[in-house]
Amino acid sequence: MNHKIVEPKIMYFGTPVVLVSTLNEDGSPNLAPMSSAWWLGQSCMLGLGKTAKTLENLRRTGECVLNLPSAKMVACVDQLALTTSSSVMPPHKAKMGFAQVKDKFALAGLTPIASELVKPPRVLECPVQLEAIVQRIDSFNADSAAAIEVKIIRVYMDESILNPEKRHLVDTDKWQPLIMSFLEFYGLGQNLHHSRLAQVY
Ligand SMILES: Cc1cc2nc3c(=O)[nH]c(=O)nc-3n(C[C@H](O)[C@H](O)[C@H](O)COP(=O)(O)O)c2cc1C
Repeated sequence: MNHKIVEPKIMYFGTPVVLVSTLNEDGSPNLAPMSSAWWLGQSCMLGLGKTAKTLENLRRTGECVLNLPSAKMVACVDQLALTTSSSVMPPHKAKMGFAQVKDKFALAGLTPIASELVKPPRVLECPVQLEAIVQRIDSFNADSAAAIEVKIIRVYMDESILNPEKRHLVDTDKWQPLIMSFLEFYGLGQNLHHSRLAQVY
């Protein structure tokens, strides 16, 4: 090992991509890809830049669906990159060539379907769909972003990834999340080692 002191601009070490659906003021659905998400129990913490339309929608409505795409959906997730539903284009996004897109479901070729406990739609093609309500929103990263705690109130999983014999119901050899690592897309590799934690938890 030969560790160097470096100053990376980002610390995206690899997290699952989440497509967050929310409702705009006019009732149309918005869909934003994001990957600054982590999970504990039935809650999830989302990190969103403060200019995201999704953040505005979460503050106003307090509801969302966290749709988790599989690795094979990578091309349609990439269609959503560099887009915003914001009517006012933030200057830093204009500089990067972002486009204002009203119907992101159509752009990505994804299908909105009704949720049960919240108003924003689920994404039919995503094997995991989590209806959630906002618990709190805090300032994050010197106020350039927000940390949004949401509580998951309903979980849908496609039967292709379910295995009732598994303790947590998900067949982890079949569930292949799409991962973002330092802005590049990856899948998961194969199961590496017997897990002592999985045995007891
Ligand atoms: C794969 C992927 C992951 C992203 N992760 C995040 C993230 O974690 N937080 C964030 O604020 N933006 C993230 N973005 C950028 C947002 O998608 C972008 O800010 C977008 O404009 C938000 O859409 P909205 O303004 O319509 O809400 C990511 C984009 C892609 C393609």
